[in-house]
Amino acid sequence: GAAPMIDPFGRAVSYLRVSVTDRCDFRCVYCMAEDMTFLPKREVLTLEELDRLCSAFIEKGVKKLRLTGGEPLVRKNIMSLIRSLSRHLASGALDELTVTTNGSQLARLAQDLADCGVRRINVSLDTLDADRFKAITRWGDLGKVMEGIRAATDAGLSIKINMVALKGINEHEIVPMLEWAHAQGHDVTLIETMPLGEIDGDRTDQYLPLSLVRARLAERFTMADIPYKTGGPARYVEIRETGGRLGFITPMTHNFCESCNRVRITCTGMLYMCLGQDDSADLRAPLRASEGDELLHAAIDEAIGRKPKGHDFVIDRRTRKPAVARHMSVTGG
Ligand code: GTP
Ligand code: 5AD
Ligand code: SF4
Repeated sequence: GAAPMIDPFGRAVSYLRVSVTDRCDFRCVYCMAEDMTFLPKREVLTLEELDRLCSAFIEKGVKKLRLTGGEPLVRKNIMSLIRSLSRHLASGALDELTVTTNGSQLARLAQDLADCGVRRINVSLDTLDADRFKAITRWGDLGKVMEGIRAATDAGLSIKINMVALKGINEHEIVPMLEWAHAQGHDVTLIETMPLGEIDGDRTDQYLPLSLVRARLAERFTMADIPYKTGGPARYVEIRETGGRLGFITPMTHNFCESCNRVRITCTGMLYMCLGQDDSADLRAPLRASEGDELLHAAIDEAIGRKPKGHDFVIDRRTRKPAVARHMSVTGG
């Protein structure tokens, strides 16, 4: 395959995260305000343009592609993009094609995903309690998501449950979540909330450091560090009592930027070299400027050449506003 793209700090960029839509059918309290303004549809790349953009990155050495959003599976005709991208799995250019989803559409699409060569998906699930699920997601329906997870299991997909650890909201559910997920054979990752964009509440109220969670879990479980690697930022342990894997994603307490291998593109074709920085490069203009990919390749090279060393997640003490105004749903996490 292609030689990997190397950034100024010697890191190979092999993982592309693509937000295929900024829209979502949920309104998770830590992610969005209830009253969100979304991009006008004309700003958004077509599925054909997204395919061309992803394929350019694969040509430049990307081996792992993850579709995110917003909620990727609410984008109209999304399966046609996934089916088309699966040609890169068949050719061996791509190692993994996957999605991060809220699960709301899985009952309908899980089998199609499996048929397209998707092997493993990440499902966001912060609670197993129907009322709390409503309180956190505001618009979501837990029953529908559980039905989707079952459909995905039946389709043979491996599932990782993503749980954002929220102080006073779901922290007491971490143990039950682990017990449930591991009994089903799913991995779990816990995630620290990151200050990305304004939400309706104060983000500092929700923040729960995973160093604390891990110390509490260690009183109850025997956890051993394991070298399991997915290419994402989580560091994993195995829990002896449940026999399952637990990952920790700790942007706030334990920076993982030195091993960063990823960049992300938005549904309008902006390339963000870091989730926690504002710098970006417009790839839509070179994409639309010509049928050939030369301008696009040059724009990608130029941008990778200024990938920053690490993220900058801070909340201004005075204004209480996050330094990064963009929501997670724009850059796809
Ligand atoms: P795996 O392939 O299973 O390792 O998935 P992943 O962790 O790469 O992807 P997922 O979409 O499940 O993301 C889980 C969480 O990790 C989300 O909250 C992302 O925002 C966060 N995340 C992923 N990459 C980065 C990163 O480069 N920096 C930061 N700060 N967070 C990241
Ligand atoms: N901080 C941390 N995780 C977040 N997610 C969405 N917004 C945030 C945030 N501000 C999570 C979702 C999903 C993953 C892609 O990111 O729950 O699991
Ligand atoms: Fe939608 Fe995911 Fe954001 Fe929840 S966290 S509102 S499911 S994009």
